[in-house]
Amino acid sequence: MHAEKNYTQMGREELVKLKLDLEKQYNDIKAKGLKLDMSRGKPETAQLELSMGMLREGVCDEVLSPSGVDCRNYGGLDGLPEAKELFAPILGVSTEEIIIGGNASLQLMYDTVSRAMILGFPESDKAWGKYEKIRFLCPAPGYDRHFGICQALGIEMITVENKSDGPDMDKIEELVSSDDTIKGIWCVPKYSNPDGITYSDEVVKRFANLNPLAKDFKIFWDNAYAIHDLYEDADVLLNLLDEAKKTGKQNMVIMFSSTSKVTFAGGGLSFIASSKENIEFFKKQMSMQTIGYDKLNQLRHIKFFNGKYENIISHMKKHAEIIRPKFEKVLEVLDREIAPYCIGSWVKPKGGYFISFNSLEGCAKRIGELCKQAGVVLTPSGATFPYGKDPKDRNIRIAPTYPPVPELEKALEVFVLSVKLASVEKLLG
Ligand SMILES: Cc1ncc(COP(=O)(O)O)c(C=O)c1O
Repeated sequence: MHAEKNYTQMGREELVKLKLDLEKQYNDIKAKGLKLDMSRGKPETAQLELSMGMLREGVCDEVLSPSGVDCRNYGGLDGLPEAKELFAPILGVSTEEIIIGGNASLQLMYDTVSRAMILGFPESDKAWGKYEKIRFLCPAPGYDRHFGICQALGIEMITVENKSDGPDMDKIEELVSSDDTIKGIWCVPKYSNPDGITYSDEVVKRFANLNPLAKDFKIFWDNAYAIHDLYEDADVLLNLLDEAKKTGKQNMVIMFSSTSKVTFAGGGLSFIASSKENIEFFKKQMSMQTIGYDKLNQLRHIKFFNGKYENIISHMKKHAEIIRPKFEKVLEVLDREIAPYCIGSWVKPKGGYFISFNSLEGCAKRIGELCKQAGVVLTPSGATFPYGKDPKDRNIRIAPTYPPVPELEKALEVFVLSVKLASVEKLLG
């Protein structure tokens, strides 16, 4: 590390000089009138192309499932048996513990919480919406749309800090065991959005051992990145449902995932998994919402992967080949342009869709503004925290997958310059 470059150790005069120089560089880049987007974790076109086999003749015109179900007709609320067999291993559950949903796991999450608000769970004394106040724990930084569900449905959020091996379990245990208004928690346990970390075995076991005061407390385990490894040396997540069975608390666990970032982000399949008891309960409630999800799409997926889970895994390796260079580009630029100056920190993720950047405290909003003025859109600062409020104003979610590498490089140039300028401004007060 070049100690002489550490911004935080520079004198005022030196910082003023540096600021002038950075402002000049910034104005030059701003004058280029760039229009770049690093705001959302979307697959790029080449990734979508990988699944075009699903739309080819002999796949998309099939209507009979291998077991003889006419997929054009009503029925089969929980999904085709072959679809359940094919996708249950993503969440490590049995075919009796999963329902294949529509094209978005977010919808399954929203529906599960909103049904709880209207109808409650089997253990509930009354529907969640009938309480004066209910609350969810929200490990943060986290997925903004989880927080959006709470906000939309009037659920108060309590921020819990994320550590390097998962959320602060001491805090979670203390809160859930002493406050019966806490009814749920959002978790992204593997390659978390945005931190990119995977919960340790100990954290998963502590989740399975929680003793919530609310008897209808649920863990919303959103394993969106379960198979989204960038490297052979992938993170391994302990199976929460298995662990919870050991403690008899399997009804506390509700898992989600989807093929949004496996096949098509707008036309994939979603999954909800839980104890057999919960799945039966969900099916009963869901049968009032739909007669069945889109079985033709399930069939396309089964045909495309030839019904074999290992084909999904080799398909994911092709995704990794496309997006790995983008992650490595971001990390290379951060290592070169930010690390020597000690004005930010980040973790190298081994999978998922994001790199989580923490600036000096009080700089994230300003970095977002500077980027925007220079034509680079980032996820709005604060979005990774409940109510859009990052208490330290320092977290920025970098989503490198969508732009092609040359565009990503340009966007990163703007980003690091904005980080430097915002940091110097902050240090100068
Ligand atoms: C953690 C997490 N869950 C869910 C989703 C959305 O999944 P789906 O497309 O299945 O609704 C995303 C998308 O970015 C995500 O990051």
